[in-house]
Order: sequence, then structure tokens, then C-alpha cells
Amino acid sequence: MTATTTLKHGDVPHAFTGIGDQNQLNPIFARAGESTDFPLNALPPSESLPETAYQIVHDEAMLDGNSRLNLATFVGTWMDPFANKIYAESADKNMVDKDEYPQTAAIETRCWKMMAGLWHAPDPENAIGTSTIGSSEACMLAGLALKRRWQLARRAAGKPADKPNLILSSAVQVCWEKFCNYWDVEARYVPISLEHKVLDGHDLESYVDENTIGVVAIMGVTYTGMYEPVEKISRVLDKIEESTGLDIPIHVDGASGGMIAPFLQPDLIWDFRLERVASISTSAHKYGLVYPGLGWVIWRTVDDLPSELVFDVTYLGGHMPSFALNFSRPGAQVLLQYYLFLRLGFDGYYRVQKASQDVAVYLASEIGRMPAFELWNDGTDIPVFAWQLAKGHTDKWNLYHLSERLRLKGWLIPAYPMPDDLTDIVVQRIVVRNGLSRNLAESLVVDIAEAAAYLDALDSPMPTEGLVTSFTH
Ligand SMILES: Cc1ncc(COP(=O)(O)O)c(C=O)c1O
Repeated sequence: MTATTTLKHGDVPHAFTGIGDQNQLNPIFARAGESTDFPLNALPPSESLPETAYQIVHDEAMLDGNSRLNLATFVGTWMDPFANKIYAESADKNMVDKDEYPQTAAIETRCWKMMAGLWHAPDPENAIGTSTIGSSEACMLAGLALKRRWQLARRAAGKPADKPNLILSSAVQVCWEKFCNYWDVEARYVPISLEHKVLDGHDLESYVDENTIGVVAIMGVTYTGMYEPVEKISRVLDKIEESTGLDIPIHVDGASGGMIAPFLQPDLIWDFRLERVASISTSAHKYGLVYPGLGWVIWRTVDDLPSELVFDVTYLGGHMPSFALNFSRPGAQVLLQYYLFLRLGFDGYYRVQKASQDVAVYLASEIGRMPAFELWNDGTDIPVFAWQLAKGHTDKWNLYHLSERLRLKGWLIPAYPMPDDLTDIVVQRIVVRNGLSRNLAESLVVDIAEAAAYLDALDSPMPTEGLVTSFTH
């Protein structure tokens, strides 16, 4: 018997739900004339049934790790059913079609203005911002604005503008290396060390000069989750300005901390309350709690974003400024961010972030108590922390082995070397996101303790051949 129900867009055929006609349910991969062996790297020569193609894609995606046990990523892996509904309803919206989707464009503006307020812009109406694909694009745009501002000032003063440099911690995320590489800016890395675990203004005067376009301060270093002390860095730059006349702006890379600090550390001064902070970026898909594909960057005032970088897009017959690397990109995530702002408000964001931090602090204290480990930090900045193997604990295994063992239980917890000058230190990191419950965390503590006990009890050292010792930050 053939089902005659007409499927509406978005309906799941009964064949997949298991409800209905058995004749429909069974033949997947076995119907006459149906290919069950698709070429992997060549376009199949002919069509297949949608059910078959769906099942193949669905089944392959199952081979990815379980995203809820992925404690390596900072990026959101869960949204509520209303958010999922908005996502499905707006998956077809192109953010750049501001004339066709004026409401999505208006909502984008509302969102960044809310964030300008959250980050204490002196006058959110006179700030300027945009959504981006994520922090990487946001950082590129912020870096480009720094470079162009510096070039304009240099040219106006009749000075050469061909050797810009940017000051960064050696623990910056790879997007800054890309920025410097793609846009011909010399990256001047300040190495982190055991005494200076983050960029803290120490020795900054020996890195900056008249070609410095800015200093990047990170709120939530990717390797460890620690905050860089933006206020302290700013004070050091004030001193440098007093003695040299160099007025060097700061960009705050708040990929994670930009959506944690306003809620959990409201008294910490790191944002536009500091005059030197020209721009701030964040990944909305990290602690902004939106699915992957959204970031924000905001400049303190319109003057901090050189106007020649901004293009006009027609909008309701008028014009709207646009500063972006991409032309087309999804608009749905912007609506999701707005949904969350309305749904959670300040209090809701506080509660969600606090719950993640409580779990991070619990996990850090349990792991710190185990004799095999020493904590690098404790999860009280962003809900992220790292640990290393306690000195002299063992020469039979390392954190890469522990990472592999935990994979057997489904946990994805990367181990990797620290950046330059500390590369002999290997750490392991947990990112606690909304969705890692205290119960699940308790299971994780048991699994880590058991894995360490198993490794400790080995008679001979674990082999080191074939260990994956790198991790892309
Ligand atoms: C400090 C920092 N900056 C930038 C990025 C890049 O963010 P995105 O993945 O949103 O492009 C990350 C990602 O982890 C990060 O931790």
C-alpha cells in the first residue's frame, strides 16, 4: 500500500518516525534500483530518494562525537524548543538582504545597541556595531579599523604608514595570527610565562612604538579561560603615553568573557568604562548562548570606525551602513540572539552563566584535589579551567593518554601544549557550557579518577607513538 498523504515542508515522513506502513519503513537501502553505495568524493550520477539521502547524511553525522559531551568546544550545542522553532522559520533569511528583511535588520541594530549598553558604551546611540559570523570575523573587522585609524593619523602627520604592528599575548587565538598574516600587520607577541600567565602590561613599553596600531586584551584566554587585566594594561598604556606621546588603543577580544563578565563580574572594569578601549568583540555562539554562526563587534563611538571602511547597503529605499567580510550570511542567528535577550534578560543570563560557573568551580576543585593533577586556574573567570600533571607524579603516562582514555567514555577533553616559552607544559582543559549539569559533572569526576587510577596502576609506560598532541584553538 502506498501512502498518499502530502508532506508539508518540514514534515518528517512516517517512514522515519516508525509510525505507519511497514512496507514504507523497511525498504530503505534495499529497494529495487536504489543505490546503497554512494561515491564519496564524486557527484552521484543520478538522483536518489529523499528518504535515502536523508538517512545516509543522518547516519554519517551520528559518527561525530556527542556534542553534549564535547567539553573541548566553547560553542553552543543546545537551544530551547522555541529557539529551534525560530531557527526553522528563519533559516532562509539572508542577513545582507536588509531591504527585503527590514525587520531582521532592525533587530540586528537593537541587539548591538543592547550590547553597547551592557559593555558601558558612554553613549550607545553614538556607538556603532554589527553582527558577524563569529569572533574571528569580528576581530578581523576590529583589527582593520585599528590599522586604518593608525594609517590615517600617520598620513595626516606626513609619516610613513607601511609598517603597522599589533601587540598580542603569545596565547592569542589563531584568528589574530590570521589577521596579521592576511592584512600585513607585524604581530608582536608578548610571551606568557609562569610569572605572567596572561598579558598583564608587564614590559609593554619594550614592545610598542610609533607603528603600533593597538593592543589586544583577551577576556577569557582560549588556552585556560583566564581574563587579561584590561584595566591594568590600560594604565600601563597611559604611562607610556605620558612618557612618549603614543596614544595606543585597546581592542578587547571578549570572545567568551564578553558575555560572562557583565553578569558574573559586574565590578570588574574591562569594557568601555576604560577610555582606551576602542572596540570589543564577542562570539554570540559561545556564552551568548546562540547556535554556531554569530558574533558581535562594537566600537565605542562612530569615530572609532573609519568611515571609508563602511559600505552603504540599500535598506527600505534608504541606506544602511555595512561593515563585513562576507556578503551573504545567515540572518537566523540574529533573531535567535534577540529571542534570548527577550527570553532571559539580565537576570536570566546571570542565572545561566552562574550555573555554568558553579559546575566549573566544582569540577576544578575535584580535579585539583586528585594527587595526579595541579590546577592552572580554577574556573572563576569564565567557566573554563585547565590543569597539568603534578610534577613528579608519573613517567608512565601523560595528559594525552588521559584524554584518549576519557574518549572511551564519550568525553571529549583535549590536552595540548601551552604557547611559546611554555611549550614544555601540557595542559588539559574543560569548557563548561550551559547544559553540563552538576549530575553529569559528578559522573565526569568519577571517570577522570578511574582513568587516572587505571593509568597509575600500569606496570609499564603507555606507548607514545601515534598520540595526537596538537589541538586547534
Ligand atoms: C579569545 C578568542 N578569540 C577569538 C576566537 C574565535 O572565535 P570564533 O570561533 O567565534 O571565530 C576564539 C575561539 O575560541 C577565542 O577563544
